[in-house]
This record gives sequence, structure tokens and C-alpha cells, in this order.
Amino acid sequence: MDGRIKLAAEMAKEAGKILLSFQQKLHGYILKGPVDIVSEADKASEAYIIEQIRKVYPFDGLIAEETAKVEEGTSGYKWIIDPLDGTTNFVHGHPHFCVSIGLMHEGVPIGGVVYAPFYDELFTGQVDQGAFLNGRPIQVSTTKTLSRSLVASGFPYEREGVLPAILAKIQRLLLSAQGFRRAGSAALDLCYVACGRLDAYWEGTIHIWDVAAGIVILSQAGGKISGYDGMDYQPFGLANQRIVSSNGRIHQQLLDTLFPVDEDLK
Ligand code: IPD
Ligand code: CA
Ligand code: CA
Repeated sequence: MDGRIKLAAEMAKEAGKILLSFQQKLHGYILKGPVDIVSEADKASEAYIIEQIRKVYPFDGLIAEETAKVEEGTSGYKWIIDPLDGTTNFVHGHPHFCVSIGLMHEGVPIGGVVYAPFYDELFTGQVDQGAFLNGRPIQVSTTKTLSRSLVASGFPYEREGVLPAILAKIQRLLLSAQGFRRAGSAALDLCYVACGRLDAYWEGTIHIWDVAAGIVILSQAGGKISGYDGMDYQPFGLANQRIVSSNGRIHQQLLDTLFPVDEDLK
């Protein structure tokens, strides 16, 4: 592992501990309101990560979700941080949430780390070096047909207007796939495709911090990531909010099911 990815792994683990400590406080949230605890947890995790990066790599750029911080930097490296992915789960005391830290160089994703503190699972990936779960190499599933596939998705916070298009996709999928899941963390969805727990994941309203780490981990595990049009996924492209990912083998079947020819790429 290169220096920055090693640092990302250490930071993600520490930030995960911070999140867990805040989640324990949720028992007393009636006093303060769960939303406050979530934003405190988000901010504490993000502040910790940014502080660590700044200590070692003061000239790197960064994009961080919570503070909406974008710093260009001068080194060519950029960190993409989601300090808490799976907020809704987190606030309900549900264990499925994580810290996601992606690394880009000259605009190209080159590394990623996703840590789920409740499960103590650390996913790492680096270009040309493979993908790992707690240090062990991972690979996408070998499932060949959509009918044998477990497929996940996520929904936007603002659902009005887009709901009919989302439900139509899910309806078609429920008739074609083995199963459908909405687990609540885009970063973990991508990592689960990477290690074969899922065969595919798609979503129409993600942000760069949701997927920056996961796309490297998944591509290093042999997966395929595209836009809704089937073209290679462009993290900063115009259609960058729309992502389709899979083990590669079922990608076309998934695209055909989600986007039949008579429907717009909504
Ligand atoms: C959300 C989660 C969710 C996805 C949403 C994201 P947050 O991130 O990843 O699974 O469906 O699109 O915004 O708000 O928990 O960081
Ligand atoms: Ca997120
Ligand atoms: Ca978040």
C-alpha cells in the first residue's frame, strides 16, 4: 500500500471509532434530537480526517461532504471524503454505515478505503494493486445471469418527481433478478459488489463522495462501472450522478432491464 492509502486506512478506522462513540450517545437523543448527534458525528469524523491529511500532505486538494469544502491543492492529489455514509441507518442505531475516503490524482481515481466500524470491515483498493477486505484479496461474483443475481440500489432524499421512474425500474428488476436490496450506504453497496455479496448496484442520484472510494475498490476487484448509457463511468462527467455497477458478466442484462429501449435514461 502506498503512503496515502495507508494513511487513508488508518484515518478511516479512527473516524469509524468516532462514529461508533457518537452512535452510542443516540440512546439519549431525546434530550438533544437525533439530527444534532448525526451532524456532530459527521463533522467530528470529517474534521479528524482533514486534520490528519493536512498534517502530512498540506498541498493536496480535497472535497469533503459535510463542510462542503473543496480545496484544489497543488500536488495533483485530491482526497474525496464522506465522513459518514449511511446516515439514516446511523441515526436509527442500524449498524450498516461507514467512512469512505477516495484518492484521485490529476482527476483520475487511484485509490479508495471504506471502513464499516460496526462490522470492523476495511475495504481497500489501489490501481494496479487489487482490492482487499481486511487485507485479504477480494473478487466480484461469477454469477452469469440476472435471474441468479442479488441487486441493490439507493433512493434520493428528494423523491418527489423521480419516484415513478425509480419504482418502474425496481418493478422490472423484481421480476427478473433473484433479489433486491436497499441497504442505505452507496459506498458499502459498491464494496459488496466488489466482494461478491451483491452482483450489482445502481443509483441515480449519487455524489462524488458517495462513490469515489468504492469505484476503485470495485474496479480492482474485477467489476464494471458505467453510467446509465453503459459507457464508462465518469466521476466528474455531466451524468456523474447516475451509476450502474456489477460483476461485469450481468452488466448488459441489468442495463437492458433497467433501461428498456422505449424508456428515457431517467
Ligand atoms: C447516502 C447513502 C445512500 C444513498 C444516498 C446517499 P449519506 O449518503 O449512500 O445509500 O442512497 O444517495 O446520499 O447521506 O448517508 O452520506
Ligand atoms: Ca454519502
Ligand atoms: Ca455522508
